Amino acid sequence: MRIIGAPSDYGANRRGVDMGPSAIRYADLAAGIEAAGATVTDVGDLAVPRAEERDPDREQPTAGRAKFLRETREVSQSLADAVAGALSEGAFPLVLGGDHSIAIGSLAGSARDAEVGAIWFDAHGDFNTPETSPSGNVHGMPVAAALGKGSFADLPWANAPGLREENVAYVGLRDIDADERRAINESDVTAFTMSDIDERGISDVVEDALDVACAGVDGIHVSFDLDWLDPNEAPGVGTPVRGGATYREAHWALEAVAERDADEGVLRSMELVEVNPILDESNRTAEIAAELAASALGKRTL
Ligand code: ARG
Ligand code: MN
Ligand code: MN
Ligand code: MN
Repeated sequence: MRIIGAPSDYGANRRGVDMGPSAIRYADLAAGIEAAGATVTDVGDLAVPRAEERDPDREQPTAGRAKFLRETREVSQSLADAVAGALSEGAFPLVLGGDHSIAIGSLAGSARDAEVGAIWFDAHGDFNTPETSPSGNVHGMPVAAALGKGSFADLPWANAPGLREENVAYVGLRDIDADERRAINESDVTAFTMSDIDERGISDVVEDALDVACAGVDGIHVSFDLDWLDPNEAPGVGTPVRGGATYREAHWALEAVAERDADEGVLRSMELVEVNPILDESNRTAEIAAELAASALGKRTL
């Protein structure tokens, strides 16, 4: 498997998330994955110029607002190439963010030459478009971008050719904007909220999400936003929301992904995003990210 760092903070409203890849590596990511039985190659970080050197409004879509769209395009294109390159060489891409806007590139690369499903572990829907976004922050838009919603329809680089709405499953939503809610409900994505987890338990919900993502595809992309976890477990994120998944639920969820992969070979690519070391407590959010990657890649107690 191949580790690819994408230290972008263009999509978030707070600096620091660009240090996420270093923090996750420092938390013994590679050793944890090797203990799970995989061979790790780390190709380092993509080049990402500092946000202060750029004008957030230099490039804009035909409608609405998306800050640092030009820079997001540059990062997305190089990340998509890196992910597609890894896959074409038979290496599993594990992408380290960076804010969640990097998922535009991960998905475009993973779904370039294949039909791909996606599981989105997140407090947020990230289904805004430049027209509906209350913030203009692209980390709230990557699912809509990949699916070509709103003015993203005019931005081919942002679209994931082999991703269909029917194969997108959210797990654990709890903070959605008003227009975003309408758009999710009108779409064909499947959304499981924290209430669904409360009612049915994490195991049933994740099995259903896997069924949705895996139906008729070549493989799945797992997008893991650390703010899916409760802020008590993972305080180092830019947009924390109370009432998230517990440590045990998160491990169970990714162990279920690994188990489905062991049975059916479905796992194609994965990313860990939104780790912000400036906001973290002694790197614990990065440590959880590293541990969860090992769970997804097959680490077992016995
Ligand atoms: N819904 C809000 C927005 O669009 C917050 C999005 C947070 N996304 C994230 N990947 N942390 O601005
Ligand atoms: Mn997100
Ligand atoms: Mn989020
Ligand atoms: Mn619906």
